[in-house]
Amino acid sequence: MLHKDIKKVLITAEEIQKRTDEIAARISKDYEGEPILMVCILRGAVLFFADLVRKINAEINFDFMAVSSYGAGLSSSGEVRIMKDISGPIQGKNVIIVEDIIDSGNTLCYLKRLLKQRHPKSIRIAALLDKPERREADIEGDYIGFKVPNEFVVGYGLDYNEKYRNLPDVCVLKPEVYEK
Ligand code: PRP
Repeated sequence: MLHKDIKKVLITAEEIQKRTDEIAARISKDYEGEPILMVCILRGAVLFFADLVRKINAEINFDFMAVSSYGAGLSSSGEVRIMKDISGPIQGKNVIIVEDIIDSGNTLCYLKRLLKQRHPKSIRIAALLDKPERREADIEGDYIGFKVPNEFVVGYGLDYNEKYRNLPDVCVLKPEVYEK
């Protein structure tokens, strides 16, 4: 049964798992047994990260970053505040940043630039969702689950006012929920 605030299911839990299998297979092949440092961007990416890492056939380390936009909403410069940084050096490592969604792209653009300065061996982006219509920054994901239309999506980690993260599917929120 649908949650009362949900207009429709956009991507089902089964579809997410199937696509995550495909992405994990590609990552396993691309890195051919090389170790990977998977960096989860808290909090939205937690569920995608947890499902993705256990499907990849490689030596994997985990790390976590928490970021938040500067002031009210992301500034046009795309500057974000680091609330929690990666716990160790990444020099010489294969890093994959794991995100739930690329929207304006400002967060990932900033993060990728920041982490590149620390001289990783390689750096790529895996994102469950991509909303290309909203893009402001010049950034592309390397591993994308689904392209989504410019609708308010929640569930499978994504929130509105910190709610709905635990819904198993990616869903479209009823407009009256965020318009009131
Ligand atoms: C979301 C998402 C990305 C960012 C994408 O995070 O997880 O980090 O916004 O937006 P952008 O492409 O426009 O920069 P949010 O700040 O909502 O935090 P959360 O992950 O804790 O939900």
